[in-house]
Amino acid sequence: VVITEKENELISDTSPGTPAGEVLRRYWQPAALTAELDEQRPVLPVTLLGERLVLFRDERGRYGLMDRHCAHRGADLCFGRIEDGGLRCVFHGWLFDAQGRCLEQPAEPMGSRSHLHVTQRAYACVERNGIVFAYLGPGDLPPLPQADCFAAPSAYTFAFKGLVECNWLQVLEVGIDPAHASFLHRFLEDEDAKDAYGKQFRDEVGGGMPLTRILREHTRPTIDVSETSYGLRIDTTRDLSDVERHYRITNLMFPNAIVIPMSRDMTITQWHVPIDNHTCYWYALFTSFGAEVDQAAMRAQRLALYEVPGYRPRLNRHNDYGFDAADQRTRTYTGMGADINVHDQWAVESMGAVQDRTKEHLGKSDVAIIKYRKMLKAAMSAGRAHDAQGEPIIAVDLIGPANDAGCWREFDRERRLRAPWKP
Ligand SMILES: [Fe+2]
Repeated sequence: VVITEKENELISDTSPGTPAGEVLRRYWQPAALTAELDEQRPVLPVTLLGERLVLFRDERGRYGLMDRHCAHRGADLCFGRIEDGGLRCVFHGWLFDAQGRCLEQPAEPMGSRSHLHVTQRAYACVERNGIVFAYLGPGDLPPLPQADCFAAPSAYTFAFKGLVECNWLQVLEVGIDPAHASFLHRFLEDEDAKDAYGKQFRDEVGGGMPLTRILREHTRPTIDVSETSYGLRIDTTRDLSDVERHYRITNLMFPNAIVIPMSRDMTITQWHVPIDNHTCYWYALFTSFGAEVDQAAMRAQRLALYEVPGYRPRLNRHNDYGFDAADQRTRTYTGMGADINVHDQWAVESMGAVQDRTKEHLGKSDVAIIKYRKMLKAAMSAGRAHDAQGEPIIAVDLIGPANDAGCWREFDRERRLRAPWKP
């Protein structure tokens, strides 16, 4: 599969009016964490798919996402005042509600009705489990996807985000590449599972076997990709012996999210959302099928690694991702410490702002990436959102019998039956 420069631009460019941009706009996209609106005051600059916007929450709790520049003479609404049922521009006091209607123009003559003819372009928002989602597309609002992260009560979820300084597509493609974990995320030693809370790839997956050891010792997984109603299901298996097999089931939730296991009880739904063509945010919604999530612990753990505002990782390309030769010799494959997000960050940013796919050589382990690109191109010509209703999205990680390829479904069924909420 050889990609031309034109095709590479076609699948990665999400600016307004581009085919890939139109595909992403037909689905709800994370615009901000609700925590970001609580930091100082509920007004936030948001750049989404190349569009410069302002997000705010009015006094009644309604979310508005509008053009950042005031319809009057273009001043920045991010400095506006939340009052009188909307966001007021501090240049001449024009007041806009969450739907972009102009309610007041207080510098115009008394009795003027000209505000009735002014609207600020605005997009619909909905808040779920700590994330404000926005719909930037045409037509009626689609439903949110049928996914556990939305079905779960908020106490069983946790939301976070991180800045990545490259194009969204190469970040998404790492999420559907199950082979890299054996290398990029390799730990040269295993740590005690009791220290693994809230961390990925550290849980025991059964039989006292830490996942770190499985990944390290079995580097050539079998990867099976099936098309589903919601996108792709990726079955990754590693034979541990003649009788035992490691099953890792991950998913692509079309167009730009993945649903993957984090531990036996928790999954991660993670969107890769373009800020513009050269930067993006990942938004993760952790979902627990077991106990309530310790949100304060999860947030504190991550705030040690990310700066607010902006959610830029403290280890980044400006400090070589914390690379340390001694760490690379003795602890981790990358030498970049134990946080797997740092590893992924390096992998995707080191490709360049937009990966030059004309020079790549894909292997068998890239099967999901190849299928995804086909799917994206098909969606560009379809000109509408796909019907995602149907199959449940299952993300699990377990050791099961080598001769029972469906054992992960049984594991998931039992986990759902045991869950304190109704998945
Ligand atoms: Fe990774």
